[in-house]
Amino acid sequence: MNRFSAIIGTGSYLPEKILTNFDLEKMVDTSDEWIQRRTGIIERRIVDENTASSDLGIPASRLAIEDAGINPLEIDLIIAATITPDMFFPSTACFIQRAIGAENAGAFDLSATCSGFCYGLVVADGLIKSGIHRTVLVVATDVLSKIIDWTDRTTCVLFGDAAGAAILQPTNEKKGILSSYLGADGNHAEIELLSIPAGGSRYPSSHETVDKRMHYIKMNGQEVFKLGVRIMYEAARHVLKQANLTIDDVDLFIPHQANIRIIEAVGERLRMPPEKVYVNVHKYGNTSAATVIVALDEAIREGRVGPGDIVLLSTFGGGLTWGGTVLKL
Ligand code: ACO
Repeated sequence: MNRFSAIIGTGSYLPEKILTNFDLEKMVDTSDEWIQRRTGIIERRIVDENTASSDLGIPASRLAIEDAGINPLEIDLIIAATITPDMFFPSTACFIQRAIGAENAGAFDLSATCSGFCYGLVVADGLIKSGIHRTVLVVATDVLSKIIDWTDRTTCVLFGDAAGAAILQPTNEKKGILSSYLGADGNHAEIELLSIPAGGSRYPSSHETVDKRMHYIKMNGQEVFKLGVRIMYEAARHVLKQANLTIDDVDLFIPHQANIRIIEAVGERLRMPPEKVYVNVHKYGNTSAATVIVALDEAIREGRVGPGDIVLLSTFGGGLTWGGTVLKL
């Protein structure tokens, strides 16, 4: 057994186009003031019509490979966390595999909504520790702009597009993933709570599903808000306890970036000093599976965290799903 799985490189990629709250004011009945006050979001990045999830995941993965200083041929598994795959199949992971030249890698997609990156880390960690895989690329990529109803002001102001990636390898040093925790509650899988109802085998695409706008995100924002605060707090507490660490040991807390009010509420409940809570939701909105790895990559590049630092991740999303990870960089 290998003792730990270390993150040896990270990368992230954001589309260039910025969509501001003022742009949204021209599209739906909303205001910059409402969006900032209720969500903290000022702007988000949006892909053009020809860009799919893999087109963001590929550059993010290349940057992580470069950062890790490895040859893509060393990668033996690619896990692509996404709820906006390029198509049902082949998997987005296969498109990424081809583009980065990871010819020796198995590849699959993982669907766990906004918790996808934490879920991917757990799978990678288990396979590395067991010795089944040695060099794993976990890439989280989502283009929420493609599944948003741009006429629905209650959802279209919240989301953005982004990708982030990490390369993991075994180590005998006590670093990398120190502890992790996954959860789900299918009792909250109601269509009205948070879902895209149609396009799968329950409601296959038809003229009717298109007419009823069933291919877009549906969400009960208030209910998701309450559940999100509770489960992100619990995931963070659980995973820290499992690692025998306290809030004081944490150098940086990276919560899922859905809404500044959720982030602040979780931080307060944890008694986490605000300066230890990473926030970039104002720049990118909610980018689903990508939020925490984009934030981690940014925090490393900004010098906010470095080797030896303890980073706490906590996520939640549709399903419901949630996850927590304690990392030692
Ligand atoms: N602009 C202006 N007014 C709006 C807008 C808008 N964009 N959206 C809603 N409103 C109105 C509502 O119609 C309502 O009006 P009313 O009082 O006349 O009925 C009023 O604003 C208040 O609406 P609420 O829904 O109560 O507002 P709330 O404070 O709950 O904020 C929000 C809404 C931002 C969606 C919040 O509930 C939230 O962030 N929820 C969590 C969402 C989330 O985190 N999702 C993550 C999962 S995503 C995934 O898994 C893919």
